[in-house]
Amino acid sequence: MQLSRRNTLLAGGLLLPGMASAATPSALPPQPEHSGMARARLGVTENPFGPSPAARRAIVESVAEAAYYPHSEAPLRDIIARQEGLAHDHLTLSSGSLDALTLLTVAIAQSGRVVAPAPSYDTHLIYAARQGIESDRVPLRADHHFDLDAMLAAIGPQTKLAYVCNPNNPTGLRPDPEALRAFCIAASAKVPVLVDEAYFELAPDPHRQSMASLVREGHDVIVTRTFSKVYGLAGFRIAYTLAQPERIRLLNSRITTSRNQAGLAAAAACLGDTAYLAGAIAYLKGCREQIYRICEANRLRYLPSDGTFVYIDCGMPAAALQQRLKALSVEVRLFEGEAYRNWMRVGTATPAELAYFAKVLPEALKG
Ligand SMILES: Cc1ncc(COP(=O)(O)O)c(C=O)c1O
Repeated sequence: MQLSRRNTLLAGGLLLPGMASAATPSALPPQPEHSGMARARLGVTENPFGPSPAARRAIVESVAEAAYYPHSEAPLRDIIARQEGLAHDHLTLSSGSLDALTLLTVAIAQSGRVVAPAPSYDTHLIYAARQGIESDRVPLRADHHFDLDAMLAAIGPQTKLAYVCNPNNPTGLRPDPEALRAFCIAASAKVPVLVDEAYFELAPDPHRQSMASLVREGHDVIVTRTFSKVYGLAGFRIAYTLAQPERIRLLNSRITTSRNQAGLAAAAACLGDTAYLAGAIAYLKGCREQIYRICEANRLRYLPSDGTFVYIDCGMPAAALQQRLKALSVEVRLFEGEAYRNWMRVGTATPAELAYFAKVLPEALKG
């Protein structure tokens, strides 16, 4: 990537000794060898830039405490409370945001239904369906944005919960914040609204895009965020939820175990680390730009994304292209639904993975 990225990396202390240039893959923090995995793992949404230097140090230091059960969530909770302007009874931690999304969905929607867009992130909805809780999925509009009016109209007597993902996964699109705010206020007068902000930090002016202000104003809105994406800590399973105290108590009553010591220490060390965030965000934006250029070179339509992935119209059934890519050791992710049968989601990755994707995609498209 460009010189500016190198400067950002240097400012964030991310260039390790011996890293010649930010334009080369070796400029990234050391990458693990994924033996037995695809040559380009583009089906995932993690941030290969990895944890911040401070988070890496905190993880190493936490080994001294590894023999003991985690004893203190207080440092991380204090930082979140300060950052969000919320009292401690309005927030809690979980082992990944999926845990919070799943436990809340099952607890709140018990013997009822959930309204959610489609396609969207739905691992928690699939889990809830296994417990007998069905969802009413509202298709995206023709411009691939949420149909918030239709979602509001879909909230019926059986509905116990509404779910939105901002920005949406897999489209990477953000709704207009004022429109989402109006939806959340109207919907939360009927049922709790769960707003999944897994990619919060990637939005321009994230606090304006976030629905956390509605929690501060007392609405029945639940916001989940995670350290798994931009902060590069997916393997350490730490996330947080912001909501009214009643919802936080409900979530805490369902959580079965404590968070892990290393994840707590790492998250506290990196939350709000602006130099690191600038580097990570520049890296992810650079990856997205690279994916856009690959699409353009192959005349494929794509949606400009605020996530760690890009949703691409393959111009052919995506399942067939996925198989051809798999044979070339490239993994991509598809989402269900007839309207998006030609679309695949391609994740941000290391420069080597994206270069390999660029090389083999024309061959895969030809069939
Ligand atoms: C939109 C969205 N929400 C939540 C999650 C769950 O992330 P985690 O459990 O690691 O916080 C993901 C992960 O892919 C996601 O894409």
